[in-house]
Amino acid sequence: MATGTSYFDTRRRIRANPHIRELAAGVHLSHRDFIQPLFVDEGISRRTQIPSLNEVYSDTPETLLQQIEEDLKEGVRKFLLFPVPAKKSERELDFHFVQSVFQAIRKRFGSDVWVAADLCLCAYTIHGHCGVLSGDKTRVVNEETVPLLAAYALSLAQAGADCIAPSDMMDGRVAAIRNVLDQHALSHVAVMSYAAKFSSQFYGPFRDACKSAPGSDEALRDRKTYQLSPFNAGDALLTTLRDIAEGADIVMVKPALAYLDVIARLRQEVHHPLAAYHVSGEYQSLELLAVHQLAARAALHIEAWTALKRAGTDIIISYAARHAKKWIDQVQY
Ligand code: PBG
Repeated sequence: MATGTSYFDTRRRIRANPHIRELAAGVHLSHRDFIQPLFVDEGISRRTQIPSLNEVYSDTPETLLQQIEEDLKEGVRKFLLFPVPAKKSERELDFHFVQSVFQAIRKRFGSDVWVAADLCLCAYTIHGHCGVLSGDKTRVVNEETVPLLAAYALSLAQAGADCIAPSDMMDGRVAAIRNVLDQHALSHVAVMSYAAKFSSQFYGPFRDACKSAPGSDEALRDRKTYQLSPFNAGDALLTTLRDIAEGADIVMVKPALAYLDVIARLRQEVHHPLAAYHVSGEYQSLELLAVHQLAARAALHIEAWTALKRAGTDIIISYAARHAKKWIDQVQY
């Protein structure tokens, strides 16, 4: 600012009331950008609150349909389904349960809903890893895991999934999935790749829900040999570009808030739709603040979602997606 003038730079004019703040807003949220995760558990006989995730439930196949019905009334049409099979195995994996769930969803709701299937083996394997372990249990074997993932993707798409969302972090799985879908006249089924999925503490509550935490008695106790390192943002860019080259339609960054730099960089680099997964630990930390009356629940989630939008994400995956329409309508600028 020039010196010697009689005024100073009054920035507060633009903040003076909700009307001008609304006009001046650079981003506006819409519930249309949201995907609601759903859990369906073969091993339960009634809908069960997930203890580690406030107001989030595991459904039976029957209550799942009721949940979707209610969500449709709240303006939610896009979902990400996590199946929890009753039986776990080393490598004899049985996909019938989730197939029957998809068939039931399609029969009941037709094309009124868009449902992506999370594709991973961690809820299926005894040890909780996202793929097949080597004989000495020290490695997840990429070459043995990818064909299983492709077979799983095919069974999900044949049962009616609109989108396959691989979250396993094996190399080459997007190409393998794309190929098998195309070979079976399923080229209309999309792939949303968990491209920049970091090895994170923020998945803790989810692993409770999916009963998928890697066992503490295993030689391999964490997912650091396949999920990305938080210390290596370059790997996230390379992996995302690689997944796009292999045929991913949508690419995702996960977790979200701790990786805003990655979202912002990818927004510059790629023209594909970009999704951010505000994961279980991120959701629950906000919920705990609200439960303890240290913050206002709706405004808190809106603030987090707004950060994701500012960073450049198109799509937000949130456990609170079903509240998005109501909360955004009432947003206080
Ligand atoms: C499965 C998977 C995980 C999440 C989504 N898919 C957990 C993990 O990698 O351990 C995390 C979702 C969340 O925390 O909300 N591989």
